Amino acid sequence: MAKDKPKDPLDIPFVGEITDYLRNEAPEAVRKAIEQAGKDDILAKSYPYKEELKRKDYDRQMEALQVELVKMLWDMKETGKRLAVVFEGRDAAGKGGTIGRLRQNLNPRSAYVVALPKPTETEATQWYFQRYVDWLPAAGEIAMFDRSWYNRGVVEHVFGFCTPQQRMHFFAQLPDFEKMLVDDGIILVKLWLNVDRAEQLRRFLAREGDLLKQWKLSWIDVEGLKRWDAYSEAIQDTLERSDTKHAPWTVIRSDDKKRARIAAIQTILDAVDYAKKDPQAIGKVDTSICGGIDILNV
Ligand code: ADP
Ligand code: MLT
Repeated sequence: MAKDKPKDPLDIPFVGEITDYLRNEAPEAVRKAIEQAGKDDILAKSYPYKEELKRKDYDRQMEALQVELVKMLWDMKETGKRLAVVFEGRDAAGKGGTIGRLRQNLNPRSAYVVALPKPTETEATQWYFQRYVDWLPAAGEIAMFDRSWYNRGVVEHVFGFCTPQQRMHFFAQLPDFEKMLVDDGIILVKLWLNVDRAEQLRRFLAREGDLLKQWKLSWIDVEGLKRWDAYSEAIQDTLERSDTKHAPWTVIRSDDKKRARIAAIQTILDAVDYAKKDPQAIGKVDTSICGGIDILNV
């Protein structure tokens, strides 16, 4: 589909604005990186691979991981384990796609997605964590949080949806909140998906030109492009304040979606003990793209 005039049957107001941003506002280096790249090239210069993982290798690994996930959920039901996975990252980091692979072969009654909208007027007056508590997993359940309480650390801050005092209050309560979950026996996995600036813009452009993906674009995405640096600061701050011993972050460089999805699922499988676990099928996590919060600054 032509990039300059995307079709837009839904009449979404943001369609076209990404292309405008690329032409008129994007930093020169970002625009050049996008224009000069081949389809499978990875844009982030410091990424350890030049090209996406080959489809054949991805499919083979993913199939083995899917079998492990099925075994894991089966055992969780037998033993009553509870698992909460927090998916965070900038817009277009690949949260939705990763969640899609994770739940692909799992019973949706036990493995469900929590993607809450902005708080209602009433919710905004409640304890900030309250509405998330409702969705924590019961025995044999996996709750996949597509965005989470971490909104207060990043997007709400960048857009002024909370006051600086509210944010500090959030950070003050956060370690205890997560400690309570973990102490109660919930297995908590926090995944931060990271994308480079040019890659994020390339994904937005692809969404703009795709009738099946345009709905994912929001005012926040468009406006967020201009706030890249504010995001970077808020992200760094948030990760440092919330990377605790009882609830550490796993950061995954997601410029290559395929490698990122594999690393995310491996991280989850590694976090849970289950019967007939097959370490060979899981494989070793690629530590050049997946690790602690210092991975962000390479
Ligand atoms: P997504 O990336 O999840 O598709 P958006 O990029 O539109 O959605 O929004 C990012 C996040 O910001 C969402 O979790 C949304 O609920 C939140 N958000 C949007 N507007 C507000 C608001 N006024 N107050 C608090 N949170 C908001
Ligand atoms: C995705 O690619 O699924 C994103 O992380 C979701 C978003 O755009 O916010």
